[in-house]
Amino acid sequence: MDIVLGLQWGDEGKGKFIDLISENYDITARFNGGSNAGHSIERNGRRITLKMIPSGIFMKGVQNVIGTGTVLDPVSFKKEILNLQVFDNTVQPENNVIISLKAHFVLPTHKLLDVFMEESPDYTTIGTTKNGIAQAYSNKILRQNVRVGDMFAPDFKSRVQHILERDYKMLAAEGMSLPSLEEISNEFFEAIDFLKNFNCTETEIYLNAALGEGKKILAEGSQATMLDIDHGTYPYVTSSSTIAAGASSGLGVSPKKIGEIFGVAKAYCTRVGNGAFPTELFDEFGEELRIKGNEFGSNTGRPRRTGWLDLPALKYAVMINGVTQLVLTKADVLSGLKSVAVCIHYELEDGTIETNAGTLPENARPVFKWLTGWDADFSVIKDSAALPTELKDFLSFLEAELEIPVGYLSTGPGREEILKMI
Ligand code: IMP
Repeated sequence: MDIVLGLQWGDEGKGKFIDLISENYDITARFNGGSNAGHSIERNGRRITLKMIPSGIFMKGVQNVIGTGTVLDPVSFKKEILNLQVFDNTVQPENNVIISLKAHFVLPTHKLLDVFMEESPDYTTIGTTKNGIAQAYSNKILRQNVRVGDMFAPDFKSRVQHILERDYKMLAAEGMSLPSLEEISNEFFEAIDFLKNFNCTETEIYLNAALGEGKKILAEGSQATMLDIDHGTYPYVTSSSTIAAGASSGLGVSPKKIGEIFGVAKAYCTRVGNGAFPTELFDEFGEELRIKGNEFGSNTGRPRRTGWLDLPALKYAVMINGVTQLVLTKADVLSGLKSVAVCIHYELEDGTIETNAGTLPENARPVFKWLTGWDADFSVIKDSAALPTELKDFLSFLEAELEIPVGYLSTGPGREEILKMI
């Protein structure tokens, strides 16, 4: 089993890369997160953002697993499937999406609670996507949630109704203005009926049997390393395990079965939501980068914060995941600059040099190394040998610092605009 995951704060361009390589696999599998993800894929010049559906969905013959470590919102899933069928009517998701019986549900009140907690002065504002992700995962840990397999039980409806009513009582007492309970529960149970058309099974058994038959699995990470619940910039993180080890636990596949670990990173950094971002740019260039790189959330549309590449954070992510190949994206967005900055360490308020991004303090000041910029028309570059020397030097610098090869270089937003480097 190989893994693709993000090394920064998400939005590194994982969807496009997975779409490219998924033809080499029999199965793509999501192991964490839910509808908070936004993996953008291009098809015939049009773009679709997948939230819950694995990115191998367009590949004929590829099975797409929604694994145990994910949280599934049936209402959002139904909308996504209907959208997908409008986008491409040749796709048959009922035949090639397989859902874990042990994946947890995101309930309608989880989404309301997410909005409430984000807006209430009594809680830290994280800047979430308001998809109820933290509420579903916290109820899972509390052992108070319902799972996909529960939808076949005769008391499922009453169990869900009980949770919805309990949450409603609490939110109403807090003074939140709420949609009608009847409306949201009807919408939920209609989506559950829709979900029952899909193959819901023990995906652990399915995946391990597939490996036993020599089939190839690509595990698809959502969000990214610096948003990991344990190793990210807590509390400004998501609520799941976004790292390579999370693929193993989220899919029920032994770490011994992991092969290649592709780490996707941009040539600069972006972040949506709150939290530490030492290399953030607040000047005109930061805005220019946002526009040129089209840095607006694919899920929520929020403008992304932009900044220079953060090498200590990237080294940390490579270490945590055991990345075997770097997939670098958006170097083309930096084209035309005289020089390009990379943060090589931080300086703390007392003047101490800090190279460890594991406990990234809010006030860490970036210390930059400036490298010569590159200028090229990337649309005509079809071979790594034709890359500008300055960009080759930039890539060599990263390879030496991170001690891993650059396996792929994305040279533009289009599906074909990617170079295999090794
Ligand atoms: P949540 O996952 O919706 O609870 O949001 C927690 C944090 O993770 C927020 O800062 C979000 O902006 C961020 N986040 C969640 N999903 C993504 C994603 O797919 N890309 C980038 N950031 C994300």
